[in-house]
Amino acid sequence: MMPAALQPLRAAAKAASEKAYAPYSQFPVGAALSLAGSDQTGPDILGCNVENVSFSMTVCAERNALAHAIARGIAPRTLTTLGIYMPGNKLYSPCGGCRQFIAEIMATDARVYAFCDSDDYREWTLSGLLPDGFDF
Ligand code: THU
Repeated sequence: MMPAALQPLRAAAKAASEKAYAPYSQFPVGAALSLAGSDQTGPDILGCNVENVSFSMTVCAERNALAHAIARGIAPRTLTTLGIYMPGNKLYSPCGGCRQFIAEIMATDARVYAFCDSDDYREWTLSGLLPDGFDF
């Protein structure tokens, strides 16, 4: 059962998913980021998946949100929370490429949450998402 404190993060990620451009998969995903020190009641750094007819060019919601944060001038390693919403009653986890992005841009002690339409959720640390990831 999802703690009430995560509700704003889930709501922001779900709202972001409504902006998705996913005509090929019909699987709109949203992502919302929170900064260190924020009360996590109003995450406004958002991303959604943006698909492309070439398929391989598709950008996932997580990478879109992280790129959005950098473009907003937010310093790397200051984002403490990433919430992801995917439609349906099954929880999925971020793709391998996004895990590499998450591992580099999020705060080292960040938490990543997955939400869906059920009351269930998942929570990961960065090393839980990407053990032994590539890094200089
Ligand atoms: N997708 C995301 O945006 N994030 C994930 O974590 C998994 C998958 C997108 C990519 C594609 O547009 C659609 O979901 C189906 O794979």
